[in-house]
Amino acid sequence: MSIEEGSETIRRASASEVCRIVVGISGASAPVYGIRTLELLGRIEGLETHLVCSHAAETTIKLETGRSLREVHDLADIVHQPDDFAAAISSGSFSTKGMIVAPCSMSTLAGISVGLTKDLLTRTADVTLKERRPLVLMVRESPLHLGHLRNMVRVTEMGGVIAPPIPSFYHKPANLDEMIDYSLGRALDVFGLDMPWMNRWTGPGKD
Ligand SMILES: Cc1cc2nc3c(=O)[nH]c(=O)nc-3n(C[C@H](O)[C@H](O)[C@H](O)COP(=O)(O)O)c2cc1C
Repeated sequence: MSIEEGSETIRRASASEVCRIVVGISGASAPVYGIRTLELLGRIEGLETHLVCSHAAETTIKLETGRSLREVHDLADIVHQPDDFAAAISSGSFSTKGMIVAPCSMSTLAGISVGLTKDLLTRTADVTLKERRPLVLMVRESPLHLGHLRNMVRVTEMGGVIAPPIPSFYHKPANLDEMIDYSLGRALDVFGLDMPWMNRWTGPGKD
């Protein structure tokens, strides 16, 4: 093998090692979790974020955050359209570190739980599961009926992680932002990322 051929091999190998995380934002309340996920992941060097929002998410983003879909798109490295089943993330051959859906509506949860891929978000979640990659669903609804709970069980049985955005208080959050960031930090722990801003519990009186 010539030196040129050798360096080409190395270049191709490092391209396939790009660390990518897919962020899905569905139309449940609290799209702020998805938005903040993009902001936090944006701080991690060498990480490429792929964003797919469901059609319903455009409404919740506007109603709850006052931001436009365009502004949210601008936070991601790569944006995919909800009907684009030809997008790279639609294929298991496209390498990613996994996917987080924040927030995850009961409709999107139901689709994922039975492999019903109505849009690119649910298709990508399905692919993430079939490739045995981490899939984190920040499910948002209350109260829950038995169907919701059964869907969560089904996803868990398939290897997904149900991580509802339930606030914790042991880290003594000073405001809503700190509460949101902590829930997200715990959800993102699933991907084994280094998140130096996380104020982790080290025992009583040691904070
Ligand atoms: C302001 C607002 C808040 C909503 N909150 C929730 C919610 O917390 N959980 C949920 O499952 N659906 C919620 N919905 C309904 C979803 O948007 C609706 O079921 C939609 O079909 C979900 O589509 P998707 O899963 O493709 O995003 C909300 C809708 C609106 C407009």
